[in-house]
Amino acid sequence: MTTARRPVPQSLQSKIMSAEDAASLVENGATVGMSGFTGSGYPKAVPLALAAKIEERHAQGEKFRIKIWSGASTGPELDGALAKADGIDFRLPYNSDPIARERINKGEMKYFDMHLSQVAPMAWQGFLGKLDTAIVEISGITPEGDLIPSSSIGNNKTWLECADKIILELNSWQSEYLNGMHDIYYGTALPPNRVGIPLIKPDDRIGQPHFKVDPSKIVAIVETDTPDRNAPFAKPDQTALDIAGHLLEFLNHELKMGRMPKELLPLQSGVGNVTNAVLAGLLDSPFENMTAFTEVIQDGMLDMLDAGKLRMASATAFSLSPEAAMKFNAEAHRYRDKLILRPQEISNHPELIRRLGCVAMNGLIEADIYGNVNSTHVMGSRIQNGIGGSGDFARNAFVSIFMTPSTAKGGAISAIVPMASHVDHINQDVQVIVTEQGLADLRGLDPKQKAELIIEKCAHPAYRDMLRDYYERAKKSSFGGHAPHDLREALSWHQRFIDTGSMK
Ligand code: COA
Repeated sequence: MTTARRPVPQSLQSKIMSAEDAASLVENGATVGMSGFTGSGYPKAVPLALAAKIEERHAQGEKFRIKIWSGASTGPELDGALAKADGIDFRLPYNSDPIARERINKGEMKYFDMHLSQVAPMAWQGFLGKLDTAIVEISGITPEGDLIPSSSIGNNKTWLECADKIILELNSWQSEYLNGMHDIYYGTALPPNRVGIPLIKPDDRIGQPHFKVDPSKIVAIVETDTPDRNAPFAKPDQTALDIAGHLLEFLNHELKMGRMPKELLPLQSGVGNVTNAVLAGLLDSPFENMTAFTEVIQDGMLDMLDAGKLRMASATAFSLSPEAAMKFNAEAHRYRDKLILRPQEISNHPELIRRLGCVAMNGLIEADIYGNVNSTHVMGSRIQNGIGGSGDFARNAFVSIFMTPSTAKGGAISAIVPMASHVDHINQDVQVIVTEQGLADLRGLDPKQKAELIIEKCAHPAYRDMLRDYYERAKKSSFGGHAPHDLREALSWHQRFIDTGSMK
């Protein structure tokens, strides 16, 4: 241990044990609700110990696998280690771990990729089955026995409520200044008893700072001192800077047209390098006093807060590079009144996203000429990460923006294709598409107008003529004239890539 241990109330001290002893309390076949969201606030010691135990059991010829529910992605000590040990039978709702991804794509691990706002209500409704154990990282325990959340909230409130038994990881690496940053709302209910959620502005606090917990369910407390392990962001390249430039021009235009106030509307920024570059672009923009109502707080948002560009941000988790996480931990007190972390059923709640009028900015894998977006499946069948919160935000935002480099894999793949090989966001939920080539504002357009604009503004020059050619021939030969397709060819670009390694 390098940081001071966090106090544990007398009544819970008998529950302190090693990670190995805590892992032995998880049974084969159990459904486990893990904390964690985009590489922050996930349990680190117990999953590692569990993975070691599973490897041992497998070496003895015994089968041992668990089902994992989490907030979103976690870290290598959890998804990585357990997937490596072949210890995960089923996973929801989001994964970005490369080892787990391989297992999912080989059909060795089941994966329910779902809207993040729906996890907690579905768990409560009983649609997902029974939750046996919760393993939740916290940053402290109050003298009254309430739990001080860690660097993410995700679905922890629900796991603590629904699980039969609870294992806590008390992580003293997490800043003590996290205490007071969280807002846990206990007012959600199931139909027909739902009422409006009383959040009118991104800054509103509508709940309490700590989790309530039934102490009789706590079976173990494991003390840790381990950093969150987030992947570093790539330095924005020219492509990302160009995308950010087009987007900023668009936001300026919206301001001039009187469609947004000068502080814009609450920003939602998705995961990935491109969205982080857009935040870096906003740092040099003329907009002041911006707010964010989003899922994750990335490096770019801390920079915007430091520069006074961003007034406050509401999210469910941090998603910081290792350097930014160190900086945040050292200076967390400065951010205490500017950041709010909420359960993901609130950070991603459709009612709130629609009410606040968020500007949603998310990445995509491919978009078709009519504006349907694939965020999840490469060549229609290989999962990359998952839909995450992009669906929650895209459908309900004031304006829904998707962005991507116009090509992938060194130019062998066009991000703009005749027909998307998988659709996560139907064209009605996609209002703006941006690539480094330009921006297509699709609002109010007929499918053919959309196609012409997307091809001209967003496609890479190496694919533009091919797309024009497809579209012109589709118009002549299609079964219907509203959104013309030649079904013999619509997915031929993908097949060509699979067969030859290039869409060209
Ligand atoms: N075909 C094949 N692979 C593609 C591709 C395409 N059309 N587009 C992107 N990729 C690959 C990239 O090559 C890269 O692969 P690598 O890791 O092997 O290098 C990977 O997908 C990530 O792409 P990148 O260009 O680095 O973009 P990103 O980091 O911005 O991620 C998404 C883009 C779509 C994968 C990411 O935004 C995502 O998972 N979105 C869905 C969830 C979401 O939107 N969450 C936020 C909601 S709040």
